[in-house]
Amino acid sequence: MASSPRMQLRCCGASGCRSAGAEAVRAALLSARDQLGGAAEAVSIKPVGCLRLCGRGPLVALDRPEPSGAEPACRTELYAELRPEQAFDLLARATGRGDALAAQRLDSDHPFFALQKAVVLEGCGVVDPESIDDALNHGTYAQLRRVLLDFSPEQVREQVKRSGLRGRGGAGYPTGLKWDTVALQPPGPRYVVCNADEGDPGAFMDRSVLESDPHRLIEGLAIAAYAVGAEQGYVYVRAEYPLAVERLRLALRQARAKGLLGAGIAGSGFHLRLEVRVGAGAYVCGEETALLASIQGQRGTPRPRPPFPAQSGLWGAPTLINNVETLASIPVILREGGDWYAAIGTEGSKGTKVFALSGAVQRTGLVEVPMGTTLRTVVQTIGGGVPGGEGPDKGVKAVQTGGPSGGCIPAHLLDTPVDYESLRALGSMMGSGGLVVMGESTSMPEVARHFMRFSVNESCGKCVPCRAGTVQLAQMLDRFVERRASLVDLERLEELCRMVGATSLCGLGQAAPNPVLSTLRYFRQEYQAACRDPDQCEPFDACLLKEGTR
Ligand SMILES: Cc1cc2nc3c(=O)[nH]c(=O)nc-3n(C[C@H](O)[C@H](O)[C@H](O)COP(=O)(O)O)c2cc1C
Ligand code: SF4
Ligand code: FES
Repeated sequence: MASSPRMQLRCCGASGCRSAGAEAVRAALLSARDQLGGAAEAVSIKPVGCLRLCGRGPLVALDRPEPSGAEPACRTELYAELRPEQAFDLLARATGRGDALAAQRLDSDHPFFALQKAVVLEGCGVVDPESIDDALNHGTYAQLRRVLLDFSPEQVREQVKRSGLRGRGGAGYPTGLKWDTVALQPPGPRYVVCNADEGDPGAFMDRSVLESDPHRLIEGLAIAAYAVGAEQGYVYVRAEYPLAVERLRLALRQARAKGLLGAGIAGSGFHLRLEVRVGAGAYVCGEETALLASIQGQRGTPRPRPPFPAQSGLWGAPTLINNVETLASIPVILREGGDWYAAIGTEGSKGTKVFALSGAVQRTGLVEVPMGTTLRTVVQTIGGGVPGGEGPDKGVKAVQTGGPSGGCIPAHLLDTPVDYESLRALGSMMGSGGLVVMGESTSMPEVARHFMRFSVNESCGKCVPCRAGTVQLAQMLDRFVERRASLVDLERLEELCRMVGATSLCGLGQAAPNPVLSTLRYFRQEYQAACRDPDQCEPFDACLLKEGTR
């Protein structure tokens, strides 16, 4: 990526920093620059997307060009928790007249930044998400143009297959294989859909990409459409993401105006119409068949598969559905080559993964690391563990991955590499990338109940095992949380978990028992200690101990 030779302040304007007052900081910087004049006029104040350390916002990066010929050409300082009244101090630093904000300066060599590998997020916090010219200056759409000029659809799919990319929406299905399935259906209309529903509690990776670098997603989606032969596509975003929707719509208008969408893209014979569809924010609408129904204006409820959307999707036509992060990986894969991407990560899980790190952790934010990085590195080295946490696990009791479909991984398993298979083997899953850290005072039956209540609320009600089973499970968990359960309840709880998982129609019901099963697997003593009859409690001491800690 080209770096700007100008002195510049990159102001994070994504949701996290906005909620901490980023807009006021940027307005204050603009006004301070006007008032100061002189050297300050040369400082460019650029709105950008997420700078990663969302929990310390508002964040501003200061790029200071080095004397010509020096390497690197530009040094960057990052400032956290800025207030509008500090705008003059920041401009003074930019123009070399002060250093009043040293205490808020973040060390860019810190593991939080140094251990990350930006692939999907390479433009996040760098490009102006509202300017296609800036995106073009940073190389966006270059791969779309190149592909349309030099590659056949088969050649594009070949690179994606070589990359080993697996879908980042949760299930990890091989992307190249899915693209082949759609492309090789009998001739006729076909569609591409980007799943930007992102309903997992604790997940904000897709929102960050949409808010920070929407043109990258559009480029990836357009390349996917070319590769499978689609001329119409949709991005399905939830209404709870108003900034993402606004920036995506603007980006689509800009791309159309530049001839990068629409008829004869970039002078080629390829046509593509892309539209945004705003969902009302039902978790189940992230499930692909429910999502398609919702786009068609029907109730967003899942249907049995097969047929899979790749065979019969929107209006019965073959439809490619991919997640935001999956599609945002595509331009880099084309630029660097599938083999380059495949060299990152593990044997079964290639490339990088973006995580939304949150919960009881010192540094919350967006983290992109090679697959296979251990949970310990992400949670303790990058995230810093629990604030004030001590001991080898830095106060971490468990890490929740995969949202309501995933599970809680105990601290003693933190050396597990994050990849699809390893997390599944622990009874959890990658999911879309929400990583919620839990401290030692967390009650695991309460965590399980929290996720089960989520599933109760989000169940579409179409099939009985999920509609009634999740309610039953939540009520049983109430008994444990309220310490009126018996050991018989424990057996029933496990039995019902297995039944709901085995007989529900879609992934929501099938995975809803996972948080219960994983907490039972690793924290069973907490369920036992929560039983009503202390004589049967095992171990009794733990029960009394818990009493003191609740
Ligand atoms: C209940 C449920 C919710 C889901 N929510 C999402 C979501 O918000 N975003 C997403 O990309 N995939 C979600 N998925 C997975 C999608 O159905 C689908 O597998 C995915 O979008 C395919 O894209 P990928 O191959 O790029 O991962 C969900 C699945 C289920 C069962
Ligand atoms: S499993 Fe739940 S969400 Fe899925 S179809 Fe059945 S009731 Fe609806
Ligand atoms: S939202 Fe500003 S750093 Fe992430």
